[in-house]
Amino acid sequence: MCGIVGYIGEDKAVDILLSGLKRLEYRGYDSAGIAVLNGGMQVSHAVGKVQQLADRVYRDWTPEFISATRLGIAHTRWATHGPPTENNAHPHLDQSGRIALVHNGIIENYSDLRQRLAAEGHTFSSDTDTEVLAHLIGEYFDGDLLSAVCGALRQVEGTFGIAAICVEQSDRMVVARRGSPIVIGLGDQETIVASDASAIVAHTDQVIYMDDDDVAVIERDGVDLRNIHNVPVSRQVSRIEWDAKAAEKGGFEHFMLKEIFEQPEALRNTIRGRLDLGRASAILSGLSLTSREMAEIQRVVLMGCGTSLHAAMIGEYFFEDLADLPADVEQAAEFRYRNPIIHSRDLAVAISQSGETADTLAAVREAKNKGALVAGVCNVVGSTIARETGLGVYLHAGPEIGVASTKAFTSQLLVLLMMALKFGRCRRLSRQSGEALCREIEQVPDLVQQVLQRNQQIAEIAAKYSAARDFFFVGRGYLYPAALEGALKLKEISYIHAEGYHAAELKHGPIALLHADVPVMALLCDVPGKEKTLGNVEECKARHAPVVAVATEGDRDAIRICEDVIEVPRTSTYLSPLVTVVAMQVFAYHVARLRGCEIDQPRNLAKSVTVE
Ligand code: F6R
Repeated sequence: MCGIVGYIGEDKAVDILLSGLKRLEYRGYDSAGIAVLNGGMQVSHAVGKVQQLADRVYRDWTPEFISATRLGIAHTRWATHGPPTENNAHPHLDQSGRIALVHNGIIENYSDLRQRLAAEGHTFSSDTDTEVLAHLIGEYFDGDLLSAVCGALRQVEGTFGIAAICVEQSDRMVVARRGSPIVIGLGDQETIVASDASAIVAHTDQVIYMDDDDVAVIERDGVDLRNIHNVPVSRQVSRIEWDAKAAEKGGFEHFMLKEIFEQPEALRNTIRGRLDLGRASAILSGLSLTSREMAEIQRVVLMGCGTSLHAAMIGEYFFEDLADLPADVEQAAEFRYRNPIIHSRDLAVAISQSGETADTLAAVREAKNKGALVAGVCNVVGSTIARETGLGVYLHAGPEIGVASTKAFTSQLLVLLMMALKFGRCRRLSRQSGEALCREIEQVPDLVQQVLQRNQQIAEIAAKYSAARDFFFVGRGYLYPAALEGALKLKEISYIHAEGYHAAELKHGPIALLHADVPVMALLCDVPGKEKTLGNVEECKARHAPVVAVATEGDRDAIRICEDVIEVPRTSTYLSPLVTVVAMQVFAYHVARLRGCEIDQPRNLAKSVTVE
């Protein structure tokens, strides 16, 4: 969703801000803007891409001005309050035009505040909640931007990550957060802030992750951290563990393709140091529970949205089959509003690549309120969910830039599998089974590599189906959530209408839609349920629907019955969804490429869904 960059230092602020915005493009946005201080306030906005903003800035501002400017803020906006227009693009100014603000999040009481300010004579030029906040800061301003921001934020309900600058104090910027991340990068005589570390990593690896209700004065050589009541607070400096290259395409046509192909390496990083062959278990240091505490857990509640929800659904099987633990899956938005029943011996596990998804975060808070133990499975280090859960396991998959989640999903599966192994070993799982599972997990990167070696063959099959208007994905057992994930991948990047179903559900309705122009992807790996899915494939064929299978290599049934077969290596049941989904990621990618879609930034989608 929206992105923020702010810079103060000895370098050219305009260039740094625009290249920072480019690094945030993957988050999804529809307009962009920049405000800088150099003898006064200069602001520019553009609808569309960051490049359009850059063209405008380099056309309208003189080279001398650009090279002498040392402080500014910039933003990419994903429209919420009001359409994507230049007027609605950030930065927004206060009534005096001397304070500029960029904001991520939602000011829930903006309408009341706007009415009050309008009654006092304020005039607004946008539909946004952000402009109201800019005016409110202006109301509180009496020469000190920090106290003005603190005063205004104390009036605000909702979420924010903000950066503000003002003409009167051109040696600083003030940033704050509640529910919307702000990371402060500490460089040498420069400080760069952003909503996401990928805009910072080219400058420094030393960062401070702000906490909710932190406010900070940012200067070129330091940071003064306060809380919203203007009382000093201290936060530790962390190190970003990946470099700028990890967030670049590295020769691939799209980030998504790069991330698909990075999976063997990402999975190696997820596993590294975490398998304990001696104990036939997993070492997950962030999940610091004693064996006794683990044995006492009575139920696991797995929560997430989208792809992470599909990982949760597969996690349910892992926990039940390996750890002998009842497990429930909760769509996070449903969980937060449903008044769910939670016990103190429940372990709630929030699964989120970004660690910032609004509904998943709210579900974490609800589970905590109700006394559950809560753990996070996140990729982004220092993200809100990772910090609020305390307990948890990082994916270590590296930055995921493509909007469609790929490597995070497969890493989530491995983390959940290792968690189930660890819990299992404190309960009913034998040493022998634990050891066998450890050995299998070690093989996963190679198994995924084998799937990727079939890239060309999958591309050829994808070409046959790239003109489809509708697609069904079906599977059973472990391959049922995999079918949902396959359908999600295809629909989000290729815009083909794709539905994932349990294979048994076909005859309860969807089969009515099948005919010669509606292909079916059948997940047929050699695992329990395969024979029955084969029966369902026959039913599809009887309606003339072409069937593509993802099946274990050499599977004669699949080859005999289906039009096309994408072969994947033989695995245990536990790993079958993992290899199957990788094959479907590759399939979806090629279909979308052949249809000329904007793969890394599909329409209407944002990488991190920080609003409801
Ligand atoms: C789909 C996709 C989304 C995310 C969902 C949750 O490819 O990426 O469905 O999985 O928005 O995001 P996280 O995992 O960041 O909570």
